[in-house]
Order: sequence, then C-alpha cells, then structure tokens
Amino acid sequence: MNLTSPPLAALEAALADLKLKPQHIRTPSTTTEAVEGSVTACEVQAAELSQASPEELRTRLLEFSAGAPLLVWVRGTADSKPTTDWAKLREALWPSLHISAHYHLSQQGVRRVELGGTHDLRKACGIAGTLVVCGTRDKVLSPETTVAKFDANAKGWDGDPSQPGWAHHRWMRQFVGCYADAGHAARILDFGSGAGWCGIEAALVAKRAGRTPHLALFDPSPEMVRRATENARAAGIHDVEGRTGFGDAPPFPAQGEAPYDYVVSSGVVSFAPDAERFADGLARTVRAGGTLVFGDVNAASRGVRKRRATQALVAVREMNALDLPRARALMEARGFRFVQGSHYQLSDPWPQLAHHGERRLGAWFGRFVLGRNQAAAARDKRQSDQRASGEAARFDSWVASFVKNS
Ligand SMILES: C[S@@+](CC[C@H](N)C(=O)[O-])C[C@H]1O[C@@H](n2cnc3c(N)ncnc32)[C@H](O)[C@@H]1O
Repeated sequence: MNLTSPPLAALEAALADLKLKPQHIRTPSTTTEAVEGSVTACEVQAAELSQASPEELRTRLLEFSAGAPLLVWVRGTADSKPTTDWAKLREALWPSLHISAHYHLSQQGVRRVELGGTHDLRKACGIAGTLVVCGTRDKVLSPETTVAKFDANAKGWDGDPSQPGWAHHRWMRQFVGCYADAGHAARILDFGSGAGWCGIEAALVAKRAGRTPHLALFDPSPEMVRRATENARAAGIHDVEGRTGFGDAPPFPAQGEAPYDYVVSSGVVSFAPDAERFADGLARTVRAGGTLVFGDVNAASRGVRKRRATQALVAVREMNALDLPRARALMEARGFRFVQGSHYQLSDPWPQLAHHGERRLGAWFGRFVLGRNQAAAARDKRQSDQRASGEAARFDSWVASFVKNS
C-alpha cells in the first residue's frame, strides 16, 4: 500500500475546523523530524483501502504516524465507499489510534460527521473525498478529555424525568446499585458516580433497612459530582460527600479514612485507559469482607459487535469495553471472591426499538420494552453461571458482585 501526501491546501476548511496549521502536519514528503504536538497526514487510494488487509493497514499507518495523531485522506464521494471499509480501518488502528470524526468534502461543501451528530461547515470545496481523523488512544482517554466530555454532557447522563427513557434510565441504575444487598452497609461508595444514581439506590436500600448510610461518591467531572451530591440530598440521603478524582487513584478513602462496606462502579471502566490500574484502585476502596458491585458495557454484546463490524464511527467506550469473564478475572486476581454475575439491557435491536417506538407510539411502548428488559435481566441473574454460551451476546451490559476476602 502506497502512502502519499494529501492535498493540504484543498483540505483547508477541515484543518481549520480541527485548529491545525499546515506547518504542524507531517506528510510522507515532509523531510523534517516530528516535533511535540505535530500531526501526521497521508493519502490512501480508495481501492487500496478496500483491498488492504487489516494487518497491512495497521503496519503501514502506525509505522507512518509513529505515535502521533493521524489524518487519512481518501478520495471519492462519501457514498462511494462501503462503511465496512471505514470499520476495517478503525479496527486496524485500535488500540493505538481511535477514529473520532470524518470530514466529507464535495462540491456541496464540507461536512463534519461525529457520533454526536453532523455539522456543515458550508465551505464549497474543489475536491471530493473523506478525511478520517484518528486521535491517539492516550489522548482520547486522557484525564483532560474525560473531564471536558462529562462536564459538557452531565445533564444528559443525569437523565430528565420529562423525557422518554427516564423510567429505563432509573431502572438500570436501580438494578446495578442494588445488585447485591446493601441493607447492611453503613458506608457506601459510588466509584465513577456520574449523576450518582447507582450509589443513591444502594443508600436508599440501607436507609429502608433502618441505617443512616454515609454515601461517598467521586467522578472526574466536577459537574457530575455537583449533580450527584444534589441528587442524593434530594433523594433523602443527607450524609453525602462528593470529591473529584479518577479510578486509578481514587480520592476515597483518603489517608486516615476507612474503606467502604459497599462499593458500586457502573459504566466506568470502559473509559479507563488502563483496566488493571483501575481495578487496583477499585480494590483499595473495599474493606475486607465488604461488597463490590462492578458493571459496564458488554464487549461481547451483539450490538457492540455489529457496530464494530459495520459502522464508520463507534464510541470509544465500546472499543475499550470488557466482558464479564475479564471483569471477573480482574477482581479475582485482587483477592475478591466472585459471588454472582449476569447481564442486563437487551442488545440490538431493542435500544433502537425503544428509542423510536416510544417517540412514535407513546409511553406504553417504552413500558413494554422496559418490561422485556426487566424480565430478561431477572432471568439472566437467576441463571447466573448456568447460562448457555452465547446468551451474553443478547445484552449490552454486564454486572457482577464480589466479596473482598478477609
Ligand atoms: C457512563 S457514565 C456512568 C455514570 C454512573 N456510574 C451511572 O451508572 O450512571 C461514566 C462516568 O464515569 C466517569 N469516568 C470516566 N473515566 C473515569 C475514570 N477513569 N475513573 C472514574 N470515573 C471515570 C465519567 O466522568 C462519567 O461520569
């Protein structure tokens, strides 16, 4: 496969949108050495992209980018390439690089396509093709990116009682937060709390059991911590303390503080750059004999696999996700006894059905899908280790409970 220099002048609108100056871009014809902060860019012929094996793509492009972010320019109109070619490119570059956006250039203008939506730059352009934007995994999962992303999206993760999907949002947090019995827990920690709903559900169980639980919660995003603390108080959990921090160096328990009776970490490890270090941090927060509930996106789900095989863009957490056996192995290696593990949240096509059906057909449809989800999750939890192989693929998320050995 031949890598050539892309027409940087013709890509000006996209480069300006990326806040890149041509002098910061290293191409196959650049003779100068890469400097800190430089980006690499190359052109690949569309036919070569189609024919190249994933190994060839990986070797050639990663060797060229040499650890720097990469732009790949492919000539041809946006609809002239099958999306499976883009998927192949993405899979070949992961985990060194992650594709976060495509810019489609044509006579009509320049369109930026990201998972969050499309944006027309409204600049007509003399050539047609696609510029693929690949960031380094380290940068995409960096502390700064994480804080900025979740500060900006905190409202969405908090959920909105007036919107379709609210009942489902709350049920999932309740299912995970109460996956083990929190009734005996006096000290509860929500590890990567987001808006705090899992920890709140666990604390409400403890409260109903006659305790006055202390709820600690932390998240990298200050806005998430603010919302979670506020949500806890509004739910009647008054002894709550929030801090900012990351899973690999959790801010709870600080020196002199006791570890926790019940720790829940839901939907977080897929954002961690290093699952082993994250698991080290998680293990430190649980007291001997205490309970850990650990859950996240299921790497083995039908939906995740389908998106990875066919879609041009896939969320980084789906690229970085674990499955239940790997999560179990991580915690067993750190002195935890596995108690129970199962799956929830029916996979493709259920999320799409729920999304469109509830909007078009009304709230009853949302209740129907929620009922199916609740029944399927309860059945999988009952079956636990006896489930048939392949069953895990039916679900988008896994969850497991552990006890820390004394
Ligand atoms: C998908 S949300 C889940 C939030 C919440 N646990 C829930 O289940 O609703 C992921 C959360 O993890 C946080 N997060 C991302 N990377 C993290 C890390 N390395 N350590 C701890 N939290 C992290 C994000 O800021 C975000 O609030």
